[in-house]
Amino acid sequence: MITFAKITYHMSQVHLIDHPMVQHKLSIMRQKETGSKDFRQLLKEISLLMGYEITRDLPLADIEIETPISKMTASRVLGRKLAVVPILRAGLGMVDGLLDLVPVARVGHIGLYRDEKTHKPVVYYCKLPEDIQERLVIVTDPMLATGGSSCDALDMLKERGCTNIKLMCLVAAPEGIEKVQAAHPDVDIYVAAIDERLNENAYIVPGLGDAGDRIFGTK
Ligand code: PRP
Ligand code: URA
Repeated sequence: MITFAKITYHMSQVHLIDHPMVQHKLSIMRQKETGSKDFRQLLKEISLLMGYEITRDLPLADIEIETPISKMTASRVLGRKLAVVPILRAGLGMVDGLLDLVPVARVGHIGLYRDEKTHKPVVYYCKLPEDIQERLVIVTDPMLATGGSSCDALDMLKERGCTNIKLMCLVAAPEGIEKVQAAHPDVDIYVAAIDERLNENAYIVPGLGDAGDRIFGTK
C-alpha cells in the first residue's frame, strides 16, 4: 500500500506521495550526474507508483467470475473513462507509467512552453480525445513552478467541458500550488515533493533543473 500525507489548502487537496520508493527514485533524478536514460526510466517508474494514488477512488463494480475452484463475485474498475493529458514536452515523461497502469486510457496533448523572458506560458498545440468532457482527466507535468502552465492547461480543458480533472506533478514550488489552488479549487494536486521556492529565473529550488531538457537530452 502506498502511504501519503494530505495537506489541505482551501477547497482542493494536495496529495504528497511520500512513499519511500518514490522518494528514493526522486533523489536520484534530482542529482545532476543522472543522465537522460535513467532520468526517463525513473520518471516512468514514479509515475506508475503515483498512479496508484491518483486512481485510488475509481469506482469498482461487482462481476460474477469463475476461478478454477468455484464461482465468486469479484471487483472490476467500473467503465469509468480516463484520459491522460501531458503538458508538452516534459509531461510526456509521465504518460507511459500511467498507461502501464491503465492501458485503455486515452491520451490528449497540450503544447505549452514558458517564454524565457516573461516566464508566461505560450500555447502551441492542443489535441484531445473527442469525448474528453466525459472522462476523468489526469494532467501530467513534472514541474509546477509559477503554476502558469498548469493553470492555462486546466483552463483549456475546462473550456472544452471537462469537470473531473486531477493534476499530477513531480516537484512543486509553494507559489505554483497556491496559484493552481486559487484558480482551480476543484482540481486536486498530486506531487512527490514540495520544494522551498522559485529562483530569479522562476526555476524550482532545489528542484531538478529543466525537466524537458533532462528527459530529452536537449542541453
Ligand atoms: C516547464 C515544465 C512546465 C513549466 C512549469 O516546461 O515542464 O510545463 O515549465 O513552469 P510554470 O509552472 O512556471 O509554468 P517548459 O516551458 O520548460 O517547456 P518544455 O517542457 O517544452 O521544456
Ligand atoms: N520548468 C522546469 O523544467 N524546471 C523548473 O524548475 C521550473 C520550470
